Amino acid sequence: EEDLVVLGIETSCDDTAAAVVRSDGEILSHVVYSQADLLARYGGVAPKMAEEAHSRVIDEVVQQAIEKANLTEKDLSAVAVTIGPGLSLCLRVGVQKARKIAGLFNLPIVGVHHMEAHALVARLTEKDLKFPFLALLISGGHNLLILANELGHYVQLGTSIDDAIGEAYDKTARWLGLDLRKGGGPALEELAREGDPNSVKFSTPMRQHKDCNFSYAGLKTQVRLAIESTKTDMENNPISSASSEDRRKRADIAASFQRVAVLHLEERCERAIEWALKIEPSIKHLVVSGGVASNRYVRSRLDHIVDKNGLRLVCPPPNLCTDNGVMVAWTGIEHFCLGRFDPPPPVHESEDFV
Ligand code: KG4
Ligand code: ZN
Repeated sequence: EEDLVVLGIETSCDDTAAAVVRSDGEILSHVVYSQADLLARYGGVAPKMAEEAHSRVIDEVVQQAIEKANLTEKDLSAVAVTIGPGLSLCLRVGVQKARKIAGLFNLPIVGVHHMEAHALVARLTEKDLKFPFLALLISGGHNLLILANELGHYVQLGTSIDDAIGEAYDKTARWLGLDLRKGGGPALEELAREGDPNSVKFSTPMRQHKDCNFSYAGLKTQVRLAIESTKTDMENNPISSASSEDRRKRADIAASFQRVAVLHLEERCERAIEWALKIEPSIKHLVVSGGVASNRYVRSRLDHIVDKNGLRLVCPPPNLCTDNGVMVAWTGIEHFCLGRFDPPPPVHESEDFV
């Protein structure tokens, strides 16, 4: 049987990404254009601005993905594209592009769920990851603990009742006056290495709730109060020009925040493992994916928890944890192989169908 070759397109948030992946798991190309720079300047994702940024680069990003794979559109078997969740204005840029290519080259289309893609990309990087498995998905918009029973069959064990962990990282980084050009999460992770994680006493969220849900709004407030009590306007005074004492204070807050933010993940994961093994004793893996899973401290703490409970941690490489086209292409392949796809769209369809 011949290998499939699938183009994946991702535009749900602030990265414009495309990739070409083969059904044997070979990544033929992987292109990501990040808007982090733009966000740093304007202080957050404004949907209209993000949409315009996607529109400016989508053609180039997709063309590069196809060229770098040494292919032409004619060699593709299908086009996979993220259809949600995400900002609808942004999603539309990717969906329109996908339908245009699929229409012109008579290719089937696979609509992909962004969070499913974060989870399933682990099956590309870890060949013996079989269903059922547990997955912790941690990103800027979502916190999910799921039991993946089989392709398309997921049981939600927990979700965030307010903010996701990535949002808490991003806000904390902003309030601490960090350089956001490479993203708040990575900047905070780096600064936290200089700090004492036990110096500021933050309380761990949701301890009284014996479930697998998450909450980060309260921790965000605790961080804001801790910063206010220093009487330094950290947000408006970049850390690059802070005194060494000021810098140490910021690093201590960063490290203390990170310890508790991740401890919350650890506690929820331990409970989820306990629950899941009762329902499904054959589970062997916990997948951790989504942007925050690229964090080294997160990975090492969760590795410890998983190990202690007799499972194995599967964490894709950092550049496949953050938003990318590979995960979309791969999830497209998984669904396509089970016959789940849409026929090629008509060539002359109106551009504004969505
Ligand atoms: O999955 P993702 O790329 O996009 C969404 O689906 O939201 O996740 C983005 C989130 C952002 O909040 C970003 O700050 C966070 O992942 N992130 C990190 C790190 N790298 C990215 N958070 C903590 N440490 C990191 N190294
Ligand atoms: Zn994501």
